[in-house]
Amino acid sequence: MRFLNTLPLRPLLAFGAAIGLAFALLFASVAQTQDTRTRSPLLGGQTTIFNTTPNAFAQPAPGLQRMEELFFFVGNSFFNQNWVTAPASTTARDGLGPMFNARSCASCHFKDGRGRPPEFDGESPTGFLVRLSLRERDLHFANLPEPNYGGQFQDSALEEISEEGDLKLRYSYIQGEFADGAPYELRQPIVSFENLNYGEMHPEVFASARVGSQLIGLGLLEAIPEARLLELADPNDADGDGISGRPNYVHDKLTNRQIVGRFGWKANQPTILQQTATAFHSDLGITSSILPEQNCSPVQEACRAAIHGGEPEIEDDDLLKVVLYLSSLAVPAQRNFDDEKVESGERVFNELHCNACHVNTHETGIHPSISALSYQTIHPFTDLLLHDMGEGLADNRPDFQASGQEWRTPPLWGIGMIETVNRHSYFLHDGRARNLTEAILWHGGEAEQSRNAFTELSASDREMLIAFLESL
Ligand code: HEC
Ligand code: HEC
Repeated sequence: MRFLNTLPLRPLLAFGAAIGLAFALLFASVAQTQDTRTRSPLLGGQTTIFNTTPNAFAQPAPGLQRMEELFFFVGNSFFNQNWVTAPASTTARDGLGPMFNARSCASCHFKDGRGRPPEFDGESPTGFLVRLSLRERDLHFANLPEPNYGGQFQDSALEEISEEGDLKLRYSYIQGEFADGAPYELRQPIVSFENLNYGEMHPEVFASARVGSQLIGLGLLEAIPEARLLELADPNDADGDGISGRPNYVHDKLTNRQIVGRFGWKANQPTILQQTATAFHSDLGITSSILPEQNCSPVQEACRAAIHGGEPEIEDDDLLKVVLYLSSLAVPAQRNFDDEKVESGERVFNELHCNACHVNTHETGIHPSISALSYQTIHPFTDLLLHDMGEGLADNRPDFQASGQEWRTPPLWGIGMIETVNRHSYFLHDGRARNLTEAILWHGGEAEQSRNAFTELSASDREMLIAFLESL
């Protein structure tokens, strides 16, 4: 641009840039502390959908190109299909196990939604699993597996092969009361293992129970620039608000680097691709070029000897279609947006500093492959950072940088639709909360002040806050 070289313009531009920068800095610091949003029901920006049916989490983002839409439906079929024992005539879907938790992704993420803990003794888990590890780490700072049972407890296996054992879930109950005297009860899960088929568990095993989360808007979350997350981080609580989010840094197998983690309850997965390959490997027993080894521990000999379904069992092309599918599941619009209760509820949400972690607004940058997801103003209500949530929620199992008390702020978009999609209302990483009120009451650590302020609210303010959450 030759005109920039004409002399009189230069100082003017420099001056303008300086003013602009000053404004940008001022604006950034205000935005960081207050994080108010221009209210909009379009939680997923231009890719928001208007669907309030049980299929609300299973729709493609509007604006996909024709080819992307085609791949979306192929990815969808890989996500929903049951994998079968190898060898089978349908080589594109054989290779299940030998050890596995479920036969399809969809059996844990029913309608791309939320899993839950078993409701009674002996009910087979739907979207509930337990991670295992030892105190030691590998050279990438990743957890080392339990020697006999691996990194995840698998309660299913192919015929002729013993499964690892049974999961047992009990609860202990805690009573409490709001400032106005209204009582509440919380339940804390206690997980144990029974009928173990591969010897003793390591006496110092770390075990962490998790439910699978709703899978909407993941590509948008992946497209939030890393610089934005680092700007929100406040590891030493420099602003003194008691809240000190920090990114998890995790190992990216594709580039062999430590990068910011975004997915999973502890942000232990850097990309949708790696999260997907890991799910195929650990949950279904399907190998890929990213995780080519069968998921068998050294003592599981029958598992190691079993026939595999190709090397790898899912081809890169198909894996990438599942990634495209997960990247472009649309976010449903906020409902009852103009309802007075919902509007007041959002005000309470901000007054209680819930939005210090559940940050409402971000701008996506360029999505590397799906242009519809680029440059969107989105409202996921998360900072994707780790926060110490206190002893009550602790699993005491570190994961990369995350301590045993730290969890990633989960996005709240779609949270009010889970009951419609999945016909339950269990929340938090292990589904211990039976409703949204209990989910808030479990907040501790950095969120203790917010939680205490919640218990001080009048019944009608509590109701408005819940109405707001239910509208998301
Ligand atoms: C046995 C149940 C189960 C199966 C089967 C399962 N998942 Fe999951 N999924 C989970 C759980 C539990 C989590 C949370 C894991 C964590 O935080 O460590 C999860 C998390 C995820 C996430 C991250 C979501 C987020 O918001 O961070 C993605 C993506 C995902 N699963 C995709 C898949 C795909 C693809 C498949 C099939 C290959 C699959 N899952 C199969 C239980 C399951
Ligand atoms: C210090 C950060 C922080 C603050 C402040 C905070 N949260 Fe959270 N919130 C989290 C984290 C982290 C989790 C996940 C904890 C877990 O699953 O163990 C969570 C979970 C939730 C969940 C359940 C989400 C799910 O997917 O199951 C809801 C609902 C929620 N928060 C609402 C609120 C409300 C309302 C407030 C204000 C009263 C609030 N939070 C304040 C960090 C925070």
